[in-house]
Amino acid sequence: SKLRVGLIPGDGIGAEVIPAARRAIEALGSDIPKTEFVDLEAGFELFARSGDALPEETVEALGECDCALFGAVSSPIKKITGYSSPIVALRKKLDLYANVRPVVSVAAKGAEDTKPVDLVVVRENTECLYVKQESQTTSERGKEARAIRLITEYASQRIGKMAFELALGRPRQVFTIIHKSNVLSVTDGLFRESVRSVPRLVENGRYDNVKIEEQIVDSAVYRLFREPQIYDVMVAPNLYGDIISDAAAALVGSLGLVPSINAGDNFVMGEPVHGSAPDIAGQGIANPLASIRSAALMLRHLGYTSGADRLERAVNEVLYEAQVLTPDMGGKSKTQDVLDEVIRRL
Ligand code: NAI
Ligand code: MG
Repeated sequence: SKLRVGLIPGDGIGAEVIPAARRAIEALGSDIPKTEFVDLEAGFELFARSGDALPEETVEALGECDCALFGAVSSPIKKITGYSSPIVALRKKLDLYANVRPVVSVAAKGAEDTKPVDLVVVRENTECLYVKQESQTTSERGKEARAIRLITEYASQRIGKMAFELALGRPRQVFTIIHKSNVLSVTDGLFRESVRSVPRLVENGRYDNVKIEEQIVDSAVYRLFREPQIYDVMVAPNLYGDIISDAAAALVGSLGLVPSINAGDNFVMGEPVHGSAPDIAGQGIANPLASIRSAALMLRHLGYTSGADRLERAVNEVLYEAQVLTPDMGGKSKTQDVLDEVIRRL
């Protein structure tokens, strides 16, 4: 059978790092089935050209793919009529309810890692403030804006289940629920309760060995910087998960290293955690490793373990042995140099 991979580079450095990830997958050879790539469009640049940020053809074509890689899309800070972020829409349309973001540090050769990080943020991907139901009114005191924050038992339990399953595959099996129930007792309270209820819903003590902890989100960020090694699996509502995973990325050197997958029950989409990086776009210096690692996560999710292992090993060797590094990591190498070294190591 064939593996069909949709490619959506999007905007900015997406157009530089997604082709690199494609080349790395191609270099895997017989570790994975014969692969066919499908080039697809989405993003702000497309919107500016055509008035449509996420064409129906792209969504339909993804339906014919086994998985996809998504680069990044630019979203203006000011509201632009007719534009809304295609990645948020795609997560909803394809029901990619989990955003899984592993953050791992590997010590440089010969050096000691004093703050080892090996955690995974499991972020709920469909609700919370990202339902984007915002409104503005005017009172006698001026403008007032509101946003709806939706938390459901259903979505909180299914993200909880995915996070417990991930914990089972990890050596430490520590599981931390991130919330702010002390202030938002109804919404975050429901998230916390729903995640906590998951072990009771599965048969005969499947998660009995998982150590369940919880932490208020603000102090979780503090402890993340002070003692990141205490964390293993962190499960969080959408917005907290977004913020925590970017913060965790700072602990391992660069956003350009941190991968993710958007996963549902029927589809998986790899996506680097970083954005379109307009400040460096077009210069050929974007770090492709987050995208290559995202490809590895995507393959692992589909069960192609040996291909995923090889990709991840090659990335780690480039980082910590060869030290072929782009400027975000303090190096002088180009995107292409890093890719060439990854392929050599494969
Ligand atoms: P960003 O992640 O694009 O960039 C933040 C900083 O990290 C910049 O200095 C950038 O040069 C650097 N950086 C990021 N990825 C890098 C890489 N692979 N190699 C080297 N350096 C890298 O975040 P920013 O600047 O806040 O957002 C830029 C645009 O991206 C915005 O329009 C935003 O809406 C969009 N964005 C899109 C996301 C997505 O598509 N999922 C996620 C985050 C932001
Ligand atoms: Mg983010």
